[in-house]
Amino acid sequence: MEDNRRYITIALAKGRLAKKTMDLFENMGILCEEMKDPESRKLVFTNEEWKLKFFLAKANDVPTFVEYGAADIGVVGKDTIDEENRRLYEVLDLGFGKCRMCVAGPESARELLQHGERIRVASKYPEIAKDYFHNKKHQTVEIIKLNGSVELAPIVGLSEVIVDIVETGSTLKQNGLCVLEEICDLSARVVVNRVSMKMEQERIRTIINGLKDELAKKEQA
Ligand code: PRP
Repeated sequence: MEDNRRYITIALAKGRLAKKTMDLFENMGILCEEMKDPESRKLVFTNEEWKLKFFLAKANDVPTFVEYGAADIGVVGKDTIDEENRRLYEVLDLGFGKCRMCVAGPESARELLQHGERIRVASKYPEIAKDYFHNKKHQTVEIIKLNGSVELAPIVGLSEVIVDIVETGSTLKQNGLCVLEEICDLSARVVVNRVSMKMEQERIRTIINGLKDELAKKEQA
């Protein structure tokens, strides 16, 4: 019988999150062998049985693909979701990729935070930093956008503090820095396009519930 269903497209943030997510799909019986081939230059992978398409994208671009409906579903870190602030539904916490968004710096900078001084804050996440300092702390600060190795900023004198992800804390420790304030907890999340959620409610629900069941099984194991 002809399968007239349209493909549901899933965008995954490249790297560890994608690998862990595909493991969950595999446990659900949704296989995508082609995706595992390191030699492959293919960008989009299909599963005909479920009528699914998967693609890998840079984390920051995943919310964009989902907002515009180029992907119905996305899997990406909460940090990226908050930074991009796109119109989409966040429907599931996958519980992996756990880390924290923090204000960090040398111990000596703690005082500057307590006294609400006008300091410089370097971050790969300018929107999260802005929201935290301006809207939550009501502290006027200057935010400087960096693209990586953010820990350098307070060391070389670019800024007093940074807003960055802390996972094990070893990068901070090795550079003589520490967590000064915690902003929020982070982990991998599933996001859904707002129109797809209505138009493909049943199929999307089946996928989300399948993921939930796999997570529950893992927790019991
Ligand atoms: C992230 C983050 C910290 C580090 C935290 O950087 O920006 O630098 O990991 O991990 P830890 O607490 O376990 O040490 P990433 O490795 O993504 O690279 P980047 O510095 O280029 O942003």
